[in-house]
Amino acid sequence: MHLLADPTQMRAWSRAERARGRRIGFVPTMGFLHEGHLRLVDRARERADRVVMSIFVNPLQFGAGEDWATYPRDVERDKQLASERGVDGLFLPDAKAMYPADPLVRVHPGPMADGLEGAARPGHFAGVLTVVAKLFHLVEPDIAVFGRKDFQQAMLVRRMVDDLNFGLEIDIAPTVRELDGLALSSRNAYLHGDERRAALALSRALRAVEQAWRGGEADPGPLARRGLDVLRAPGVAPEYLALVDEQMRPVVRVDARTVVLVAAKVGKTRLIDNVVLGEGVASDTSVRA
Ligand code: PAF
Repeated sequence: MHLLADPTQMRAWSRAERARGRRIGFVPTMGFLHEGHLRLVDRARERADRVVMSIFVNPLQFGAGEDWATYPRDVERDKQLASERGVDGLFLPDAKAMYPADPLVRVHPGPMADGLEGAARPGHFAGVLTVVAKLFHLVEPDIAVFGRKDFQQAMLVRRMVDDLNFGLEIDIAPTVRELDGLALSSRNAYLHGDERRAALALSRALRAVEQAWRGGEADPGPLARRGLDVLRAPGVAPEYLALVDEQMRPVVRVDARTVVLVAAKVGKTRLIDNVVLGEGVASDTSVRA
C-alpha cells in the first residue's frame, strides 16, 4: 500500500495509474475505520483496478462546539486495516496540506442541505462538499463509494457531481449494522455502558415505521408518530424523524422509495440512521455477512 501525504504526490500517483489504463476507485473517510468503511473498499475494488482511501478529519465540516478535536483517531490501526483490506493508495493529508490558507471559495450545497443534518449542523454540508470536491480533484477517481448511513451527505455529493459535471460515478453502499441492528459509526466509540443499548432505539424506530408502512399505512403523519414513539426511549433525546424523497423533500404519500431518517442524542453522542422503506432495515448488510 502506498502512503501518500502530499496532495501533489496523490495526484501524480493517480495520474500514473490512469496512464496505465487503470480505473481508480475512491473511498473518502475520516478514519477510525470500522467494517462499514472496509465494505466500501470491497465495493470500490469490485468496480475499479486501484483503490484509493483518504483519511482526513476535515475541520471545515465541524461547527464550533462539535467534536473535531476529540473525533476518534487511530492512524496506525487504520493503516493496518486499510492495507489488509487491499487499499492500494492511502492518502493521509494534514490540515495544512489541504487548507494552506482559509478557503475563501467553498461549495454552496443549496436547498437539499437546508433541513435535517443541515439544519442541525449549520455549515456542515458546505464543509463536506468543499473537501469532497478537493479530494475528487486530487484523486481524480472514476468512481467514488459513499455509505448510505450518511444519506443526506450521499445525495448531496451525487447532486454536486451531476450539477457541476465532475465526470465520475457515485456509488452508494448499504449501511452495515451490528447483529442487533446498531448502524456502524466511528462515533459509536463514544457510547458507554447503558448508552450502547439505548442507541438501539434508532434502528428500532426505523423498523417500527417500516412495519407500519408494510401493514398498509401510507400517510407520513401517523408513520412519523409511530417511529417517534419508539425513539422516545429512556436515555434517548430524539432530534428528528423525517420521511423524505431523494431530494430531501418531505413526502405527502409514502412509497417504496421513501427514506426515513432519524437523529437522536444518546448521552452526549449524536447518532443518525435511516432506511429506504422498499429495501428495509433487514436488507442492510450485517457485520457478519
Ligand atoms: O462521511 C465522512 O466520513 C466525511 O463526511 C467525508 C465524506 C469523508 C468528508 O470529510
